[in-house]
Amino acid sequence: MLFSRAVMALLTAVFSCLLFSPVVLSLVQDLDDKFKDNRMDDVWLVDFYAPWCGYCKKLEPIWQEVGAELTRSGSPVRVGKMDATAYSGMASEFGVRGYPTIKLLKGELAYNYKGPRTKDDIIEFANRVAGPAVRSLPSRQMFEHVLKRHSVLFLYVGGESPLKEKYIEVASELIVYTYFFSASEDVLTESVTLSELPSVVVFKDGTYFTYDEYEDGSLSSWVNRERFQSYLPIDGFTLYELGETGKLVAIAITDEKDPTEQSTRLKGLIQKVAAEHRDQFNRDFQFGHMDGNDYINSLIMSEVSVPSIIILNTSNEQYFLPDEPLENLQQMLQFFNSVLDGSAPAYGGDGIFQRIKRVAFDARSTIMSVFRSSPLLACFLFGLPLGVISLMCYGICTAESDDGTEDMELMKRDGFTDEEEEEGEEEEQQRLTAGPENAEEEGEKIQQKNPSEKKVD
Ligand SMILES: *[C@@H]1O[C@H](CO)[C@@H](O)[C@H](O)[C@H]1NC(C)=O
Repeated sequence: MLFSRAVMALLTAVFSCLLFSPVVLSLVQDLDDKFKDNRMDDVWLVDFYAPWCGYCKKLEPIWQEVGAELTRSGSPVRVGKMDATAYSGMASEFGVRGYPTIKLLKGELAYNYKGPRTKDDIIEFANRVAGPAVRSLPSRQMFEHVLKRHSVLFLYVGGESPLKEKYIEVASELIVYTYFFSASEDVLTESVTLSELPSVVVFKDGTYFTYDEYEDGSLSSWVNRERFQSYLPIDGFTLYELGETGKLVAIAITDEKDPTEQSTRLKGLIQKVAAEHRDQFNRDFQFGHMDGNDYINSLIMSEVSVPSIIILNTSNEQYFLPDEPLENLQQMLQFFNSVLDGSAPAYGGDGIFQRIKRVAFDARSTIMSVFRSSPLLACFLFGLPLGVISLMCYGICTAESDDGTEDMELMKRDGFTDEEEEEGEEEEQQRLTAGPENAEEEGEKIQQKNPSEKKVD
């Protein structure tokens, strides 16, 4: 009964796969040599992949969903994939350097996608970039609507002007990161007052800031600096994105699930700096908090305490830590200033020594994570060959091997012990406790030897 039902389910699954897969597949087009000539009429979202690459295989089902979803929603974006190893000439023309590379191709322009490889993120990217670089807001209602939807949005206010041309130019490049809108002044709510028109304004952090050509430098560098909320929760991915602004990232390492009083205070302090000392620090810092120290530890290959404050320079992989735990606003401001004026000591970096350390660290954490996630598999992967190798080593040279002992330590740390190891430990303990006796015995032996030597003399 149960068996036949299982067979039925299996058959249904197989049939539905056969039925639907050709339909789903056809939504993602396999691209070849001819693509270059035909592509100009459409906006294309293309996955450049290599058949052997693991991340590409992981992306494949998501890519099919992206194709299906964009088609279903009536998007003008066409979805394709290209084997970049088979058409390497064309791939390099599009500037493909790694796999998978996701690009949106719109006429002469090619936009790289660097975000998380999830269906929703990729679709959001495609719709944003495929649409107009600057979207106009015809009514106050629309303005209020987009204000609610976007935590950060750029708005050009005013009529035609050289500034508007510049704005469109910047937008068509930076649309990969964020949204750009334009409106006339009467669309704005009463709470927004602009000292002059035209203006470029960013709405974020519950308020707005106006671009000042003389103070803020080029419009594109200003947009790049302002495209994040000044304070936000940070994870590994956000950190990488924040780094692209070229700013230092100041992070409160906190424990979000069970925050201590100190953890809450640090977070409050760094929020206060972000909000109230914007003029002083906004140009150089992004602020935020990160839950737990796991990610940061693996990044800096060292251990930071929870809670604590760390400042990362993602351009050269250096980081800064306060000498002592920060207790109040004064100390925190002092710490930030000392990083800016170069008096705070920098740790880490991207020198050759750090890179070697990184390789060793990554190898070690890979082994550790295999042990943690599936100890049994790890036993087979590392234990079996290690066992064989150490037996061989033991047999051949009957000498201790450093590698062997290190891996044993690894196993112990992860709670993996086998009987042999335990016996080994017991022996060692016995040897330790029996130390003095052994020594005496040896002493006796020597003493016994000495008389005989004398006799020989
Ligand atoms: C961060 O790194 C960049 C690139 O090496 C460097 O120019 C800058 O001075 C660094 N910032 C600080 C505060 O050390």
